[in-house]
Amino acid sequence: MNPVAIILAAGKGTRMKSETAKVLHRVAGRPMIEHVIAAVRQAGVAKIVIVVGHQGEEVCRYLGDEYTYVWQREQLGTGHAVMQTEKELMGSSGPVLILCGDTPLLRGETLRELLTVHQREGNDLTLLTAWLDDPTGYGRIVRREGQVEAIIEEKDADAETKKIKEINAGVYCFDREKLFAALKEISPANAQGEYYLTDTLQIFARRGWKRGAVQVADPVEITGVNDRVQLARVGAILRERINTELMLSGVTIIDPATTYIEAGVKVGRDTIIYPQTYLEAGTEIGERCVIGPFTRIAQSVVGNDCTILASFVVESKIGNGVNVGPYAYLRPGTEVADGVRIGDFVEIKKSRIGTGSKVPHLSYIGDTTIGVGVNIGAGTITCNYDGVNKWPTIIGDGAFIGSNTNLVAPVEVGEGAVVAAGSTITKKVPPGALAVARERQYNIANWALRRKTKKEKEE
Ligand code: UD1
Ligand code: CA
Repeated sequence: MNPVAIILAAGKGTRMKSETAKVLHRVAGRPMIEHVIAAVRQAGVAKIVIVVGHQGEEVCRYLGDEYTYVWQREQLGTGHAVMQTEKELMGSSGPVLILCGDTPLLRGETLRELLTVHQREGNDLTLLTAWLDDPTGYGRIVRREGQVEAIIEEKDADAETKKIKEINAGVYCFDREKLFAALKEISPANAQGEYYLTDTLQIFARRGWKRGAVQVADPVEITGVNDRVQLARVGAILRERINTELMLSGVTIIDPATTYIEAGVKVGRDTIIYPQTYLEAGTEIGERCVIGPFTRIAQSVVGNDCTILASFVVESKIGNGVNVGPYAYLRPGTEVADGVRIGDFVEIKKSRIGTGSKVPHLSYIGDTTIGVGVNIGAGTITCNYDGVNKWPTIIGDGAFIGSNTNLVAPVEVGEGAVVAAGSTITKKVPPGALAVARERQYNIANWALRRKTKKEKEE
């Protein structure tokens, strides 16, 4: 049936008190409007038209050219917003789904059901409605003999109408031609002086065009975000949904209330997630891992059978059977192969660590390539920055770097070479060699003893 969706996003969002467009505020790791777009896509809608106005340049720039944008220069109401799309929809034949960019809890299944009912019943207009204990602020659904007849906005409603608990969710499915025909008849003669999209329902009723309604099972889905308090509440609900879905798919989450997993994150079976863990957008975790407590992983891929304890991992790739932490910081561009161990107080940036290698304690590794089976002693530092440029360090397979070594880049340690503890390496170490680059030790016999006796005599 090839439906088209119109997402209304021209409104001002005054109550967000923000420089950022309302629909671009993030919740569960994505701008609100991207949650709406995801739901629309899940419902099988390919063409999406977004009505932009207030802070519209920012919305277009962020979302890019995957969508069609239509401008509503002046915000004269939801009906007026939809009128702007007429030319753009001229060629399309399927039903028109209309929804708002600020309802991130709406589910794809709900939209799919709306489309299905619309088609099955052969409706010209199908509304999504909800029953609310407190319907304040919403448009009320007026029915006659069960049929939906009109939507009365709160500000235009009399006392009797205000008692109606069935409300307009602001999600509709329309026949395209009839929609634009009805929009030509609406007027702003109402309390808010706006062109109400909702007035089209009365026109459909008057003409005898077929109306239907779908009641949303869980009214929380239609929650709109108008301020940051609602943004946080919606965030909590999304988080619970994401955690629940993961637990049902075989992930153990010790304490869902303190586990923050963003939309789209993948976690494999039998992985255990400890409290105070943040898994941010773009992250994929394999099977049988132990993650957290106190861990943040962002835009990173982690293989199977890994342990990541109390660490930060950002834009990095981790293989299978890797141990990280506690207190490690893997910064962007880090690639860690299978079986690697990254220990406590280790920072790694833009480096590759080969299979089975170990960086177990107190190191900084930057712009470095480490081979297979390498041991990096405690306190080893790559001096990758000379104050102007960043330089690479290369450490060959099987090399052993003694504790407290400085590797002054650009520098290379050959395969199987050994660097003595406490060295400051500034030149290439050939394969298989031992490099000692520190002051030779000398002992002065009885020096300390003599000092002690001298002191005692003076007293
Ligand atoms: C609207 C409905 C109301 C429904 C409620 C559900 C109308 C007249 N009323 O009311 O029946 O219960 O949604 O949430 O439609 N927008 C534009 N251009 C405009 C005006 C609005 O793009 O000129 C966009 C807004 O950015 C927002 C959406 O349309 O995303 C809804 O507009 P809003 O003014 O919030 O409508 P409500 O008063 O909430
Ligand atoms: Ca609203």
